[in-house]
Amino acid sequence: QGCKLVGCGSAVPTLKVSNDDLAKIVDTSDEWISVRTGIRNRRVLSGKESVTTLAVEAARNALQMAQVDPDDVDLVLMCSSTPDDLFGSAPQIQKALGCKRNPLAYDITAACSGFVLGLISAASHIRGAGFQNVLVIGADALSRYVDWTDRGTCILFGDAAGAVLVQACDSEEDGLFGFDLHSDGDGQRHLNAPIKENEMDNTLGSNGSVLDFPPNRSSYSCIQMNGKEVFRFAVRSVPQSIESALAKAGIPGSSIDWLLLHQANQRIIDAVATRLEVPPERVISNLANYGNTSAASIPLALDEAVRSGKVKVGHTIAAAGFGAGVTWGSAILRW
Ligand code: ACO
Repeated sequence: QGCKLVGCGSAVPTLKVSNDDLAKIVDTSDEWISVRTGIRNRRVLSGKESVTTLAVEAARNALQMAQVDPDDVDLVLMCSSTPDDLFGSAPQIQKALGCKRNPLAYDITAACSGFVLGLISAASHIRGAGFQNVLVIGADALSRYVDWTDRGTCILFGDAAGAVLVQACDSEEDGLFGFDLHSDGDGQRHLNAPIKENEMDNTLGSNGSVLDFPPNRSSYSCIQMNGKEVFRFAVRSVPQSIESALAKAGIPGSSIDWLLLHQANQRIIDAVATRLEVPPERVISNLANYGNTSAASIPLALDEAVRSGKVKVGHTIAAAGFGAGVTWGSAILRW
């Protein structure tokens, strides 16, 4: 059983926030941000926009490109670390799309690697369990968890959604082959947004007696990051992962048409491309306009590249995600 990508779509919030806008609220500059990261603008949720509304719009665009009816979708995978509902939002997206045959819908949380994990999960569901049309959505709004007074992190992130439709096909047409996935909990200390500890511990005294009941409502801390360590982790791990995925796919690096990495920092993208000896004209990058949109960044960049005619039918793409957890992974795709 093969599986192939038959449609993609994306959606971004209307509010555009430039580096100059950020320089009004933290001590930074357009020059510092663009030289260190390559980012110039990002989009941020406003008004009635939510992660769910963006995800639904991206998914509708993917279904439209694929010319597949929402009723024919039998699985919705929502890859997000910032869902509108703590319990996940995939079933809400399924409802909003009007998938009336009640497909299975569930969420995957793996930060900026979420979309790559979603793709591999889609392929496993198709190959192992007979699913036919799987919507894989990457959508995040890290703006909700950014400390807007911390210039080390608030300049990096933006909000967006992207989606692809993965469809069952004959094995000769297979368009999703060769992957490599990893995680390492030790790296969590370098990038996290944990639940606030004092609120978790406030119900029991040292002898087990109840000090305070009912407990306070729990909430998450803002994103905390050691940028240099995350940078090193990405530049070290991602090339190895892509090489391993290429080896499993049985194709040489020289035969890929496009390198499509999670859009975190242009310097990370450039360093990985250099290590893999992929020339700049074969690297997809749109982070100047959107910043780091976490699980959305790969399908958002793919959608732009497909709709602009850069990525054509039959092209081979090496895609890789990396991020909090830490998690990282690669997939070799044919569009
Ligand atoms: N504007 C101006 N100065 C700044 C800013 C800013 N926005 N941010 C930091 N600085 C200052 C620092 O205070 C420091 O000043 P000092 O030398 O006086 O102490 C100086 O600039 C250098 O700071 P560094 O943190 O060492 O800068 P670095 O070159 O490492 O760049 C950056 C920082 C851009 C965050 C980089 O480390 C990076 O991109 N790392 C990867 C981060 C990443 O991709 N995270 C997301 C992963 S995906 C996910 O799962 C969410």
